[in-house]
Amino acid sequence: MQTAIVVLAAGQGSRMRSSRPKVLHEVGGLPLLRHALRSAAALNPARRIVVTGHGGEAVAAAARAEGRDIECITQTEQNGTGHAVAQARAALADFDGDLVVLYGDTPFITGTTLERLAAARTGGADMAVLGFEAADPTGYGRLITGPEGLERIVEERDASQAERAVRLCNSGVMAAPAGLLFDLIGGVGTDNAKGEQYLTDIIALGRARGLSAAVVACPEAETLGINTRADLAAAEAVFQAGARRAALAAGATLTAPETVFFAHDTTLAEDVTVAPFVTFGPGVSVGRGAEIRSFSHLEGAQVAAGAQIGPYARLRPGAEIGAGARIGNFVEVKAAEIGAGAKVNHLSYVGDAGIGEGANLGAGTITCNYDGVFKHRTQIGADAFIGSNSALVAPVTVAEGGYVASGSTVTRDVGPGDLAFGRARQENKPGLGARLMKKLRQAKAAGRG
Ligand code: UD1
Ligand code: MG
Repeated sequence: MQTAIVVLAAGQGSRMRSSRPKVLHEVGGLPLLRHALRSAAALNPARRIVVTGHGGEAVAAAARAEGRDIECITQTEQNGTGHAVAQARAALADFDGDLVVLYGDTPFITGTTLERLAAARTGGADMAVLGFEAADPTGYGRLITGPEGLERIVEERDASQAERAVRLCNSGVMAAPAGLLFDLIGGVGTDNAKGEQYLTDIIALGRARGLSAAVVACPEAETLGINTRADLAAAEAVFQAGARRAALAAGATLTAPETVFFAHDTTLAEDVTVAPFVTFGPGVSVGRGAEIRSFSHLEGAQVAAGAQIGPYARLRPGAEIGAGARIGNFVEVKAAEIGAGAKVNHLSYVGDAGIGEGANLGAGTITCNYDGVFKHRTQIGADAFIGSNSALVAPVTVAEGGYVASGSTVTRDVGPGDLAFGRARQENKPGLGARLMKKLRQAKAAGRG
């Protein structure tokens, strides 16, 4: 049997108090919606539909980043989760399989859990709902069960005192044959606290027709639905805890795991060491045995085996650090390849550059890559030596083994093995220092100056 998924992502999420659509808020550097789409991969869906509304174009763009096959359908007015699912009716008119509904604000549902939900359907239940026992059920819909399984779902706002005491909650995920689901939604009204068409009402409608509904339970950590910034922070904490466990299990040493922050796609090879207080933005991979020292921030960067980064280093997108290279304190690297064994140890900016193997950039080396309009490249050959406090005005090349004297402003290419002086020549005046000092002191004693 084929499966289609519909991910609901049209809500504004007004309780987030944000101009950004709720499902585009990020956990681990990835929008909530993309997390939800990734969980659904386990179902191997034949069709993937995202219902968009608030921030439609931006939400659709985020969805398409997960796959070109993803269909986006607009829900012009947000009249509730049932109404949202109904928007996919026409697109799925010829679809003869199961429909699994997911919520774009629920990022942690695992593939295994979705497989268990699908199994409940193949096991004979007409409808299957993913539920969980909530430590604090406030805000969630409650699953009201009877001797024959799930009877109905009641939203918190519409629940009686007794129903609110139920801790078995609705995750929002449900599965049913597509035709049946759309049919039942057709009967959903708006007689509730929010005046909306609740998807959750289809359970009672189905039961009234004698259909069966099963609850598949999963851990609460998977079903965290994000409605507020506090929920978002809680979700981030759940994500980070998982990412830290995964990094440790994969063979990285984290001296103080609770102070290291990961993105959804961070990869650390075996024997990587991460000192306390390090942040990984999206797109970072670190090779075997490399060391990331404290207070470093990495994003879109590749670090090869045995390299040493930080403390206080910033690697920005396009930084490619070669094997055994060293990037030291207060060094920023952007869109630059640093060759194997090269050293940029102190107080430098290296942007739009290629640095050859074994080159050494002294303290305070700056690539002047931007003329105010265009970016230009700096190329430094293998084993070149750039003296401290040098400015390399791009486009410029220092060839292999080239040597730049400290304090130079380099505006012309330097040939292989050549020495470049790009600074004013020094002049010494014998005895003048002492004479000048004497004069100044006399002036001060006389009350002048
Ligand atoms: C919903 C469930 C509740 C469940 C909870 C789990 C309903 C009526 N309630 O409540 O039982 O416990 O999720 O987190 O389904 N959306 C649309 N269009 C709309 C309304 C919502 O696309 O018209 C989307 C939202 O963007 C969101 C998702 O549907 O991604 C859920 O909506 P939300 O308003 O967050 O519902 P909850 O109140 O959390
Ligand atoms: Mg919600």
